Amino acid sequence: MSEVEYLVELEPGGQTFKCGEDETILDGALRQGIALLYGCRHGRCSTCKYLVEDGEVDVGDVTAYALPDNEREAGWALLCRARPLSDVLIRDHKLPDERVLPLLTPMRVDATVAAVIQLTPELWQLDVALPTALHFYAGQFVELGLGEKEAVLWRSYSMSSPPSSSHRLSFVIKRIEGGAFSGAIEHLEAGRTIAVRGPFGASYLRAGSRPVLLCAIGSGLAPILSMLRDAGESGDRRAFTLFYGARRPQDLAYLEELRDCWGLQLAFVPTLDGLEDGDVWSGATGTVTRAVQHAVESARDVDAYLCGAPPMCETVGRLLSAKGLPVEQLFFDRFFAASA
Ligand SMILES: Cc1cc2nc3c(=O)[nH]c(=O)nc-3n(C[C@H](O)[C@H](O)[C@H](O)COP(=O)(O)OP(=O)(O)OC[C@H]3O[C@@H](n4cnc5c(N)ncnc54)[C@H](O)[C@@H]3O)c2cc1C
Ligand code: FES
Repeated sequence: MSEVEYLVELEPGGQTFKCGEDETILDGALRQGIALLYGCRHGRCSTCKYLVEDGEVDVGDVTAYALPDNEREAGWALLCRARPLSDVLIRDHKLPDERVLPLLTPMRVDATVAAVIQLTPELWQLDVALPTALHFYAGQFVELGLGEKEAVLWRSYSMSSPPSSSHRLSFVIKRIEGGAFSGAIEHLEAGRTIAVRGPFGASYLRAGSRPVLLCAIGSGLAPILSMLRDAGESGDRRAFTLFYGARRPQDLAYLEELRDCWGLQLAFVPTLDGLEDGDVWSGATGTVTRAVQHAVESARDVDAYLCGAPPMCETVGRLLSAKGLPVEQLFFDRFFAASA
C-alpha cells in the first residue's frame, strides 16, 4: 500500500474512497468495491473519461485520440491512467442501470499454465489452473502476467470458460508475430507460473428477455464462448445469434461446439472474407459487418455484444445504432493493444 493516500469524492452522491499516489484512481476505486465505468484499462477506449472538478491529477500516458488536449485542459481525465496528486472531486455522469451486477473486487493470484493448445493457424487456447477460486461474470477479462516481480508483462485476456470453472480459466489468444506476450504463446510450458489479476470489465452478459446478438472476429470469440457456455449451463431461453468472422475455413475455432450450441436457441452465422482457390465453404462470405447489415432489419429490441478488434466493434456498433439499437443495450469488449 502506498504511504501517501488521497481522498477521492464522487459527485453527485458524495461517495468517497482512498487512493494511493502510486495507483490509478480506477484501481483505487475497484480495490474498494466502487464501480466506475471503464473498458480497456490501457488509456485507449475513453470509457473511463470523467471530469475532475477539483484537485490535481497526473493524467498519465494517454493518446490524444482518447483524451484530446482541449478536454484535458477542461479537466477531463481517463481514470485508468490518472493518479491523484491531491484530494480530488470527480463528477460521476454514470446513468443508472438496473442490470449492473455487484462489483467483484479484483484479486491477484499466482497460477500455473495447465495447457496450451493450437486451435487454428493463429488462435491458441491457454488454460490456467488457479490455487483459489476466481469469481467473474461471463464476458469479463483478467490480466495475465509473465515475468519477475519488478518486470511483469501484463496483458488482458477475456475468459472463454464459464464462471462455473472458477479454478481453471481458459483463454483464446491470437498469436501476433513479435508480440511480447502472444508471440511466444507456443513456448509457454505447462507448470510455469503465470500471474492473474482481475476480474475486470463491464461487458458481461446481462439478464433479460430480449434476443441477444453477438458479434466477433478471431479471438473476439473468447468472451462470447464464456457467455454461451454460461447461458447453456443456466438453461437460458433467450434467442442468441452469433456472427463470427474469419478469413478462411481453417481459421474458424470451436465449430463443433458452436454447432452443438449447448442446448441454446442459437443461430450461428460464420462468415469468411478471405477465401482462396480450393477452399471448400458453403456458408456466408464477406465481413461480419456485411453479415449483420444483411441479416438484421431492426436492432431496436436486442442486446448486442461486440467483441474483439476495435475497428470491427466501432463499425458494427455504428451500424446497429443506425438500425435503432439503444445505447444502453450495446456492450463492447474491444481488444485494444497495450502497446502502440
Ligand atoms: C479488455 C481486453 C480484452 C482482451 N482480450 C483478448 C483475448 O481474449 N484474446 C486476445 O488474443 N487478445 C485479447 N486482448 C488483446 C491482448 O491484451 C494483447 O493486446 C494482445 O495479445 C497483444 O499483446 P502482445 O504482448 O502479444 O503484443 P504487443 O507486444 O503488445 O504488441 C506487438 C505489436 O502488435 C500490435 N498488435 C497488438 N494487438 C494486435 C492485434 N490484435 N492485431 C494486430 N496487431 C496487434 C501492437 O500494436 C504492436 O505493434 C484484449 C485486450 C483488451 C484491452
Ligand atoms: S481508456 Fe480507461 S478504460 Fe479504456
